[in-house]
Amino acid sequence: MNRNRWFWIGGLALAIALAITGARAQSNSGGGAAGHADSGGSSTAGSAAADAPKMAEEQFKNIKVLKGVPAEQVFPAMQFITASLGVECEYCHVRGEKGMEFEKDDKKTKQTARKMMEMMFAINKDNFEGHRDVTCYSCHRGAADPVATPIISDEEPKHEAGPGGVEAAKPVLPDANQLLDKYLAAVGGAAALQKVSSRVEKGEISANGHDLPIEVYAKAPDKRISIMHMPNGDSITAFDGKQGWLSNGGHAHMMSAAENDAVRIDADFYFAQHVKALYTKFTTLPGETIDGHDTWLVVGRSEGHPPLRLYLDKESGLLVRLIRYAETPLGRNPTQIDYADYREADGVKIPYKWTLARPGGRFTIQVTDVQQNVSVEDAKFNPPPMPPTPENKPAGH
Ligand code: HEC
Ligand code: HEC
Repeated sequence: MNRNRWFWIGGLALAIALAITGARAQSNSGGGAAGHADSGGSSTAGSAAADAPKMAEEQFKNIKVLKGVPAEQVFPAMQFITASLGVECEYCHVRGEKGMEFEKDDKKTKQTARKMMEMMFAINKDNFEGHRDVTCYSCHRGAADPVATPIISDEEPKHEAGPGGVEAAKPVLPDANQLLDKYLAAVGGAAALQKVSSRVEKGEISANGHDLPIEVYAKAPDKRISIMHMPNGDSITAFDGKQGWLSNGGHAHMMSAAENDAVRIDADFYFAQHVKALYTKFTTLPGETIDGHDTWLVVGRSEGHPPLRLYLDKESGLLVRLIRYAETPLGRNPTQIDYADYREADGVKIPYKWTLARPGGRFTIQVTDVQQNVSVEDAKFNPPPMPPTPENKPAGH
């Protein structure tokens, strides 16, 4: 079956990287006539999510280490490995006549990676009470060969301590909840936010030096879909309130539970108002200067969930960067979104520009046209019917 195309779709960024560079997926793009969004229908997401999750070893052919892990977490875990080592899938997997043959163990690197997974689990079990403190990235830092010897820097080391060894006074950090209040006020305040319940944005997305038209539809409380128009079909990222999904040329891919938790944040229409309730604890840290704005970093944490990092403009109070994480069995996949070009529309401030970055790439969306409180059908956010199973799929792809 057409499995090898799914791995690209780990997010819009990857989908774009593939679609634009063109190459690799071409061979297996079957036209996708069978599964297009406008065949009118009900959401399949609810039922898909309700089914007992398949385990990795049930869905894939040659799983030896990741047994007992939900199958939907295999691709996110593979993305984590790929980013941690700074490699491509083909570093460990072989390409056959018809595409990638992920189940084959022909490459020594794949066999090593299995041992490394076992080693990582053992390190954490034996030393960190089973918490996943050490990951592939802890040692590899984006390279296949970890560096074992300290590096001699070209620059003079920076000394934290002032003259005479006196430590510089620690900055007084503002209260995180007050910063979040300031953020809510900066976007217009809760009352103004509540007066808007839908938003349609049109603009351009740039990635890899290409510009393509894009539309983003959002509806309160938590629905969102972005549709990128590519020469060979639409590329879609969406969240229907429960289920996130991606589609490329009509082939849909449902997001994993961990990915759902991450994209739910983007889909929250009243995020500035809701954020305080999303995490149990917030702390303030010194931020960074992002695009000329000095920021405070507010970190939201809840037991058992990955943290959320919000960089808030010291002056305006607006959100300039958000970093969220999706858990995988091996580590967390980060996504960073930078917001810019805030403008006022119907009493609320919204970013007209944002850049989404992942270890595998980045893209920027510049909005040119915004309409709010227009009617958007709920059905617009529903995923298309699932792709055909291997049995009923026409041959020849
Ligand atoms: C550093 C090596 C490495 C890289 C890079 C890597 N993988 Fe894997 N992959 C593995 C190992 C090891 C397994 C087997 C895991 C096990 O036995 O539990 C595996 C298994 C798989 C499987 C299951 C195959 C089957 O049927 O048993 C798929 C699918 C897969 N990888 C996809 C990918 C994709 C997609 C990428 C790129 C985003 C990727 N892998 C990158 C090492 C790697
Ligand atoms: C505790 C540190 C540590 C962790 C954690 C770790 N590695 Fe490694 N890994 C190494 C070292 C050191 C080497 C190089 C060994 C050598 O040079 O012979 C290596 C080598 C490898 C290689 C072979 C590279 C080559 O050039 O042949 C692969 C593949 C690999 N690691 C994958 C992984 C994956 C996947 C994970 C996470 C599941 C991981 N490693 C976690 C330390 C680590």
